[in-house]
Amino acid sequence: MSGPISHHNPNEDEEKAEAPEASADQKAQMEQAYAQMRRKLRMTRLAEDIGNKIMVLSGKGGVGKSTVATGLALSLARQGKKVGILDIDITGPNIPKMLGIEGTELHVEDNQIHPAEGPNGLKVMSMAFLLEDPDKPVIWRGPIKLGAIQQFIGDVAWGKLDTLIIDFPPGTSDEPLTVAQYLPNIDGMVIVTTPQDVALLDSRKSINFSKTVKIPVLGVVENMSGYTLRGKADPNTEITVIGPQGLPLQATADGDGDWRVTLNLFKQGGGEAAAEEFEVPFLGALPFDPGVVRGGDDGVHRIVAEPEGETAQAFDTIVTNLMAEISKGEDSAPEII
Ligand SMILES: Nc1ncnc2c1ncn2[C@@H]1O[C@H](COP(=O)(O)OP(=O)(O)O)[C@@H](O)[C@H]1O
Ligand SMILES: [Mg+2]
Repeated sequence: MSGPISHHNPNEDEEKAEAPEASADQKAQMEQAYAQMRRKLRMTRLAEDIGNKIMVLSGKGGVGKSTVATGLALSLARQGKKVGILDIDITGPNIPKMLGIEGTELHVEDNQIHPAEGPNGLKVMSMAFLLEDPDKPVIWRGPIKLGAIQQFIGDVAWGKLDTLIIDFPPGTSDEPLTVAQYLPNIDGMVIVTTPQDVALLDSRKSINFSKTVKIPVLGVVENMSGYTLRGKADPNTEITVIGPQGLPLQATADGDGDWRVTLNLFKQGGGEAAAEEFEVPFLGALPFDPGVVRGGDDGVHRIVAEPEGETAQAFDTIVTNLMAEISKGEDSAPEII
């Protein structure tokens, strides 16, 4: 090829050109993009520092989701695991009250919020700590809520954790969707239900949600399962208890004269049947325990008040099953070389 060789360097032209002043709008957009990037980086790091991330969901409110989330966290923590609990219920956060650490002042360092410390060394983060008046409802909609949740996940200094349990408001609204989209490597979700048909029907929504966000269901927990009555009678005798709707229930006193009868307040085995129907694991049942209600109000969780009690033991069984499900998932995960 002949002719003059052009030494055209496009970069020179660019350097010579006056850089246009960014408008205030553009600057704000850039700031926002940087903040978003920093948060994303932090979230990736966060995901690496936390062993297992478990979401606790339910189709409807009042089935004991927060009670179960705190119970799982406390049960793991008392086994010596480093555990965090994130209360994503931004409109009605109640985990700090359940754990008796309401009103804790959080420490902020390097733009990161340090979680509060609960029983058994549990690390706790909840919007309740950030609200001036926890009794005043916060109404956040759309993008503001989304931003708050992202910030809430990315800006907490958890440190190294074995497990992070995430509690949500009831249903499959923006909150679990946002977490599912922004927090990498979530191990799966636990679905809490009570044995009634309505609650079970609502769990179906959670199962569908799991499919949408492609996060596995680790299993179903049936809460408020049965209430056990105990008593003394002559050893080795039959006794009759009049149960709900006047139905007689039989029990046999053992050699020491102790008897027990479990009243199925709602229905028996609903959670197990639902797990079977949805083809997901059944992790276990928690008894109806009036101490749970008292504990929730007094801020002393049942597991802390009675570590060897029936409820604490039921939680331990559920945690064992849950961890087994998680390791199954880890074993079958494709290896990335
Ligand atoms: N196993 C249980 N036995 C008795 N009461 C329970 C049990 N689980 C939860 N509760 C009570 O039911 C109410 C709702 O529980 P909560 O955990 O706040 O539900 P959710 O988070 O699903 O709305 C609380 O008063 C709690 O103390
Ligand atoms: Mg709740």
